[in-house]
Amino acid sequence: MDREYYYKTIGGDGSLDYEIYLNTHQLLQCQKPYDQLAVPDELQFQIVHQVEELWMKLMAFTLLDIDDYMRASNANRVMTLFRRVNQILTMMMMQLDLLETMSPKEYQEIRLQLGNGSGQESPGFRTLLKMAPELWEGYEAGFLKDGRTLEQVYNTDYSHDDAYMVAECLAEFDELFQKFRYHHLQLIARSIGLGSKSLKGRPVEMLERGVKKQFFPQVWEIRGKMTDDWGASYGVIRDSITPKAH
Ligand code: HEM
Repeated sequence: MDREYYYKTIGGDGSLDYEIYLNTHQLLQCQKPYDQLAVPDELQFQIVHQVEELWMKLMAFTLLDIDDYMRASNANRVMTLFRRVNQILTMMMMQLDLLETMSPKEYQEIRLQLGNGSGQESPGFRTLLKMAPELWEGYEAGFLKDGRTLEQVYNTDYSHDDAYMVAECLAEFDELFQKFRYHHLQLIARSIGLGSKSLKGRPVEMLERGVKKQFFPQVWEIRGKMTDDWGASYGVIRDSITPKAH
């Protein structure tokens, strides 16, 4: 096939309405020129990162709306928008897997191109890390009014109401974020190995701490508390329900 010809058609010339509206001309030039790629897999490496940055931009933008709707106690809006955010996180996780089609050797060649860059410098990720814990204040303002507690929402006054549904959206977001971080760690295990050091000289194991980070510990603690409270009826170890042989 005529490589030069197809390189040109993939980029388009930016003159059609579709291209103008979506700014495809600029978008498709955000990657290294083909003749400067260290190895062909470098194009995939750049595109996956760029796409993930776009998803994080959309997520952060949507979380700002979610915060406003939580403060206005508008559970329907919050649930629809959290469905979007949580779907994006699921996709981001799947998209990381694309990079597992890259061999460790080819990645080493790409890695030489990265200076001392680090995913921790990702503007989208840094924004999300900052923004997420603040969502809890929005939840409290909109759904834990007049001294209502999470204990009442989940246990003593449980009615599967708006306060419960929105808390579960927060739990799902938190869980998916941790899963994304775990998936990313597995990608590192596949490419550079977990025992190595990052391009900033930090041990990769440091990322394991992030995998355990919870944005909303409250929605996790309530479950443990319920287990302790309900378990109090039988003590620490429960009697067997198997009928005793006489
Ligand atoms: C072969 C592919 C990849 C490798 C080997 C890799 C490796 C690493 C390493 C070693 C770190 C730690 C950096 C430090 O100590 O400063 C890191 C952090 C990070 N990377 Fe990647 N990464 C890869 C792909 C990706 C992709 C596709 C994304 C897309 C979003 C990404 C996002 C991040 C983020 C957000 C962090 C910070 C994580 C945290 O603080 O928990 N990485 N990556």
